[in-house]
Amino acid sequence: MRKTKTRTDSGQWSVSRRGFLKGALAGAGLLSVGSYEAVAQMVGGSSVRGWGVPPGLVRIDGNENALGPSPRAVEAIIGLVYNINRYGQNPDLLGQLARRHDVPVVEWSDSPFAPVKDPWISVGAGSSDLLYAIGHTYLKEGVESIEITPGFQFVRRMADQFGAKAVGVPVLDGFKPDLNGMRNAITDRTGFMVVTTPGNPSGHLTPMSELKSFIESIPSRIMVLVDEAYVDFAENEADRVGAAPLIKDHPNVIVIRTFSKIFGMAGMRVGYAMAQPEVIRTINAHKANTLTMLSTHAASAALEDHEHTRRSREMVLIGKRYFYDQLKAMGVEYLPSESSFVMINTKADSDDIVNKLREEYNVLVGNARARWGIQGWLRVTAGLPEENEAFISALKKVLVSS
Ligand SMILES: Cc1ncc(COP(=O)(O)O)c(C=O)c1O
Repeated sequence: MRKTKTRTDSGQWSVSRRGFLKGALAGAGLLSVGSYEAVAQMVGGSSVRGWGVPPGLVRIDGNENALGPSPRAVEAIIGLVYNINRYGQNPDLLGQLARRHDVPVVEWSDSPFAPVKDPWISVGAGSSDLLYAIGHTYLKEGVESIEITPGFQFVRRMADQFGAKAVGVPVLDGFKPDLNGMRNAITDRTGFMVVTTPGNPSGHLTPMSELKSFIESIPSRIMVLVDEAYVDFAENEADRVGAAPLIKDHPNVIVIRTFSKIFGMAGMRVGYAMAQPEVIRTINAHKANTLTMLSTHAASAALEDHEHTRRSREMVLIGKRYFYDQLKAMGVEYLPSESSFVMINTKADSDDIVNKLREEYNVLVGNARARWGIQGWLRVTAGLPEENEAFISALKKVLVSS
């Protein structure tokens, strides 16, 4: 079997575009002759090695970063493993984040129990931790919360839980978010709105000019949450700046980001929210000190590893382009995405396709029917080249047999 990955000096895997399946399957007509066992063996065999999963398993269902974490983050964790008998967080992290987003720098206080004085950033155990605190703060009984549907739905579920009312505004053609529709859905009771950009599951990026005029048109009594979990994957650097610059002029805007995606640290649980100090103070009052020494040091180290983020973005771009080319050739509809995943319309039964991919080929993909009721669609995360190739080869087989 051809070697597809080599270790570099930095300890990371460098990934060759010449994955084994590409050579073996693409030109040889293997897929079209129905050599089911050969494909199953390749896909299910030990040659496909996504980072952090057993060999042979292709896990591209959860928008994780298949490249793995930054080696610097791993080194930071290893270096501190024997210190976990102590309390402590990395005191540099807030400053690093503030500089990254050009918001006022406020240092962490010495004590984990003393509140930061004028905080513009709150760091939590994943952005879900912050979302939860934000939900506790704003999603009260009698409040309406507006969000595009289909969407990430975390806020929607919290609204139900906290007695607020979730109002879903359907996407437009091509899964484009209907910002006008969101504006039109505002009532006297609206207290919260969510814009996820790029959207999950759509992958649609709302350009900053549109987002800015949208925010300017929303009454200031309504809190607008901009969820930028995937914005680091946007192709243009200008788009990756995101909405943080808006918070200085808009006390009703919260921007959230995560280390789970481009930084490859989903299991470490680090995310952060940016907003004016009054808002951050209120959010902090609703959350416990969930940060750990290991997670804050890992995040701090990851922030400095620009090469890792560049490579993560590149892996995703290469993966998406490969998906687009292959799906186009297969005549399968997809949504071009600015995120790390692609929505694919199989025009078949999503459950059936997802089950066959899993059971017959060890390939895990997102089921858009199960999660959003969108029949026929899959949400597939761009992984390492051989994972992407394994998925496409398996999909070809499954679509023929469905
Ligand atoms: C749009 C969006 N926001 C937030 C999150 C939460 O991420 P985490 O809690 O890992 O930071 C996710 C996770 O997949 C997501 O898709």
